[in-house]
Amino acid sequence: MNHDTATPVTIIGLGLMGRALAEAFLKAGHPTTVWNRTAAKADRLVAAGALAAPTAGDALKASPLTILCVTDYRAVRELLDANGGELAGTTLINLTSGDSAQARDTARWAEQHGARYLDGAIMAVPPAIGTAEAVILHSGPQADFEAHRSTLGVLGTVTYLGADHGLASLYDVAGLAMMWSVLNAWLQGTALLKTAGVDAAAYAPFARQIAAGVAEWLPGYAEQIDNGSFPAEVSALETDARAMAHLVEESEAVGVNAELPKLIKAMADRSIAAGHGGEQYPVLIEEFSRPHAG
Ligand SMILES: NC(=O)c1ccc[n+]([C@@H]2O[C@H](COP(=O)([O-])OP(=O)(O)OC[C@H]3O[C@@H](n4cnc5c(N)ncnc54)[C@H](OP(=O)(O)O)[C@@H]3O)[C@@H](O)[C@H]2O)c1
Repeated sequence: MNHDTATPVTIIGLGLMGRALAEAFLKAGHPTTVWNRTAAKADRLVAAGALAAPTAGDALKASPLTILCVTDYRAVRELLDANGGELAGTTLINLTSGDSAQARDTARWAEQHGARYLDGAIMAVPPAIGTAEAVILHSGPQADFEAHRSTLGVLGTVTYLGADHGLASLYDVAGLAMMWSVLNAWLQGTALLKTAGVDAAAYAPFARQIAAGVAEWLPGYAEQIDNGSFPAEVSALETDARAMAHLVEESEAVGVNAELPKLIKAMADRSIAAGHGGEQYPVLIEEFSRPHAG
């Protein structure tokens, strides 16, 4: 791509992530304007061809696409409140981490100030930016995303999730929930097996096989959740709960932490007490879908 055809972009916020974003755009030949509160962080990018805007307002006016990547939404609002008049000519994509309510509030505010606004979440570390490994989630008006999809593609694997601005943040934390749950389950098994002298490396391939097998169940289980009907096709929750009791007892017997197995069993027990023991595992969505009363 060359400077004559590539969309100009602005990056506001040149921390570890913002610098990686700017570098990817520069490398792909996009005219790149940058601004950072601490101006010196722009120096290396300017040496690589970026244009340093004197103020955040100038940066916002410089390009049809502006990416914001600062610490948190407090910083986002501080920046935008001071420059609300400069938003009309750019599509703002906020890749700052935050929650869904902050995303929706900021979208409302931006729209009231005449801006086109997409919220986003980066599921990657800075060195991965610019490779397909970097997954970047976007939500907000689809037309605004489509207008910049190919430019954004320079950053990694870009995904559009839907019109609700809160979706990128929600998918972000849902992904983290998945990641930590899988890792915690693996650590539980590793701790159990270590008591019998089995190395983590010996258990890992077995754990990986189980995780991959369970992942195969998700589409069918999702159908049960979406239909609100949980026939026990392969196993009833009360059968699972008996196996959970073994996991708790074994963990206690060999002297490893039993908190996680007990939590899993307590949720199943509540569901069984509510009359769902004869249904299949995904019926637990009802336990996950409300705050824990205790
Ligand atoms: N690094 C990662 O691996 C990673 C991964 C996924 C998502 N993210 C998200 O990306 C965002 C940026 O992360 P980072 O790693 O780049 O953080 P960082 O290195 O700490 O940089 C923070 C940036 O925010 C700016 N900033 C903070 N408060 C500001 C304010 N009030 N007004 C103007 N600018 C302000 C800082 O400016 P100064 O230089 O002047 O302090 C700096 O440019 C965060 O929301 C983070 O959660 C990061």
